[in-house]
Amino acid sequence: MLKIDNLPKKVRFNLRNKEIFPNTILSPMDGVTDAPFRRLCRVLSGDRMGLLVSEFVPTDGDAVFNPDGHKQLKFFPEERPFGIQIFGRFPDRMAYAAGKIAETFHPEFIEVNAGCPAPKVAGKGSGSGLLRDLPRLQEILHEVKNTLDAKTPEIPLTLKCRIGWDDESINVMETLKIAEGEGVEMLTVHGRTRLQGYNGLSNWDWIGKVAAAAKIPVIGNGDVNSVECARERINTYGVSGVSIGRGAMHNPWIFGQIADAWEGREKHVITAQEALDVFPLYYKFKIEDGATEMNAMGRMKQLAARLCKGFVLQEEIAQSRSRNGVRDDSEVSVAMSVRQALLTSQSAAEMLDRVQELKEGIAREMVFEPERLVNLNGAKETELKFGDQFKGR
Ligand SMILES: Cc1cc2nc3c(=O)[nH]c(=O)nc-3n(C[C@H](O)[C@H](O)[C@H](O)COP(=O)(O)O)c2cc1C
Repeated sequence: MLKIDNLPKKVRFNLRNKEIFPNTILSPMDGVTDAPFRRLCRVLSGDRMGLLVSEFVPTDGDAVFNPDGHKQLKFFPEERPFGIQIFGRFPDRMAYAAGKIAETFHPEFIEVNAGCPAPKVAGKGSGSGLLRDLPRLQEILHEVKNTLDAKTPEIPLTLKCRIGWDDESINVMETLKIAEGEGVEMLTVHGRTRLQGYNGLSNWDWIGKVAAAAKIPVIGNGDVNSVECARERINTYGVSGVSIGRGAMHNPWIFGQIADAWEGREKHVITAQEALDVFPLYYKFKIEDGATEMNAMGRMKQLAARLCKGFVLQEEIAQSRSRNGVRDDSEVSVAMSVRQALLTSQSAAEMLDRVQELKEGIAREMVFEPERLVNLNGAKETELKFGDQFKGR
């Protein structure tokens, strides 16, 4: 039965004249959202992903951009509508790369990255470094758009940005104006500054201000980790949709759960056993994509490090209800022991054996509730320390 009350105000949006349902994007994550990870999310969602985007593709390094040299450009026809994201600081090289990519792969959109905070990118003036040089960002958008219009006018240009370099220089409203002026057709805003890295929380008030002022679809990004959160963000901040990154590593079913909710279906509750089943599936997808066993194990561990945080013992839930839902250390401990068991595996075979043991053992007493985690910051993302912000300037 359709539960109309639970639908957000928007469940779809248009990228030019293409209707996108559900209004979600798997946020590009370098070293994570390669074709096998995207395939995993796609399969688990029943192919209801909204938009998919490549990991970002560098354009600065090559004197002449060669599409053959970039593994990030690999995608499958089933992934369409698919966007390819590029980053760089030279307008002519960005435009050349965009033209080559557009002609070679015919993606549904080309996206410019103005958000990456990594010192080796932002410190050189690319990624979020462009937010300190908006005339350069404008020139890049102008040149890329001109090239696309000349070669492949059917392919829209999109932009992904942060709200500014630091708290003293928040300039996302100017970025929006420039983007619209240069013919950008969708803007994804990650509500953190570059200085924040992945610390603190995404500032959705700024995202809301951009959405209210924009003529183009604005997609909000940062910390979305559940159906309820996606619905609340869309309703409260007026965005056309949400882009989900780390939340998909905690819960690769999230896109299907959102699509189910938007279609008025009952929530499909993922059991702990079902959650553990993603590991052999992901391993299969990695190997089919040509990964070595070591690389595939590394990616399984990367996923385990986040996904396992959603495990809780049923008994502990009952106890925590009696404590008004406050989570204590004992709840974290089962998640951590499962996580530890997987992360200390020495080979893919051992890891998959341990998954099976967990499935037949403790998982019977566990539930999978990734939405209980509020803070998605893991050690890796928070390691951008204050001093690091200034390296490579
Ligand atoms: C490991 C990692 C790699 C990332 N790589 C990219 C990238 O290639 N392009 C991009 O636009 N954003 C990249 N991001 C940022 C995410 O797309 C997203 O904006 C950010 O994680 C906030 O969203 P979330 O809270 O849903 O994760 C990356 C983030 C992480 C954690």
